[in-house]
Amino acid sequence: TITPVILCGGSGTRMWPLSRGGYPKQFLNLYGDESLLQQTATRLKGLPDVAAPLLISNNEQRFLVAEQLRAVGVAKAKIVLEPMGRNTAPAVAAAAVIALENNPDAVLMVLPSDHVITHGDVFQQLVLQAATVAAQGKLVTFGIAPTEPHTGYGYIRRGASLSESNTSFDVSAFVEKPNAATAAEFLASGDYYWNSGMFMFRADVYLHELAQYQPKMLEQVKAAVAASQRDLDFVRLGHDEFAECPSDSIDYAVMEHTAHAAVIEAAGLGWNDIGSWTALAEVSATDAEGNNLVGDVMVEGVSNSYIRSENRMIAALGVDNLVIVETADAILVAHKDKVQDVKNIVNRLQAAG
Ligand code: GDD
Ligand code: MG
Repeated sequence: TITPVILCGGSGTRMWPLSRGGYPKQFLNLYGDESLLQQTATRLKGLPDVAAPLLISNNEQRFLVAEQLRAVGVAKAKIVLEPMGRNTAPAVAAAAVIALENNPDAVLMVLPSDHVITHGDVFQQLVLQAATVAAQGKLVTFGIAPTEPHTGYGYIRRGASLSESNTSFDVSAFVEKPNAATAAEFLASGDYYWNSGMFMFRADVYLHELAQYQPKMLEQVKAAVAASQRDLDFVRLGHDEFAECPSDSIDYAVMEHTAHAAVIEAAGLGWNDIGSWTALAEVSATDAEGNNLVGDVMVEGVSNSYIRSENRMIAALGVDNLVIVETADAILVAHKDKVQDVKNIVNRLQAAG
């Protein structure tokens, strides 16, 4: 049985002003009629032999998570609540410990909730392929062919082939978020994939790796699960135990160290991390002038622009290559070349309190 583990405790800021501290990007309808979290949950529908999903989120977002799942008819999900964020390695560990309570052979399908995948059919085929590799004791990653020396991703070096079809491989190196020069080398070598952020492994295998590389983390997570309070909707991890847990991502804490990683080539997924407004524009439908117009927007002589209104009408004349995002209390106007600098605005706002 595959147990989906959906990570939704992150706090995105790059999609400001739409995403905010309390309302990060996984909860937004950035693409299509459902939020990225809802799309992540519904993408699993129809897969055979899949248990009810485990969602891991922070305590403040519990009603948002529960309500969004209800709205797309994902019943019976178990929602695990972290009293504070300790990054993804402990979150996945808590899911593994809880999944093993019911099923000693549980295979976890770890899914971030902040991506777009346009080809759900390809996703399902890859999950089934990965499940057989995971059953053999591997920690399976999904590799995306890199197109630029992006420094916000993990890089996976392809090792020996694991299948005749040459679509799954051992991993000979995993490097999380390399610097720009290293990323450029990796790209040029042709030997690396980007890490999509999805993983598949047996729950016991993951905990075994943690015992080896992050014993303190494992100890604190086990204690936090043992001290958890449970009701019909939520599993609340023990506060003091989780507070003492070291904070780290699964990529740094486990994937860079393990000797048992595998990678499945994830071609044709239509995977996009939606790391910026222009990344969103690239996956969204455009009109003949290359514009993406969302909401109440009127334009004349406008090209290559992403314009989104949430509340008030936006009218634009004779501009190009702009991102304009209107919300109730803030408006972003940016040149498309500058959208990465939205984080500077967010930092200044945070500094100003
Ligand atoms: N429950 C919980 N608790 N979820 C978390 C936490 C946490 O403390 N921190 C992050 N998450 C969730 C986020 O909401 C997101 O869905 C997912 O875990 C991944 O976290 P990110 O913070 O978005 O990771 P990243 O984008 O920097 O890097 C990861 O994804 C890249 C692909 O997008 C890594 O796996 C990279 O190697 C990978 O390339
Ligand atoms: Mg991310």
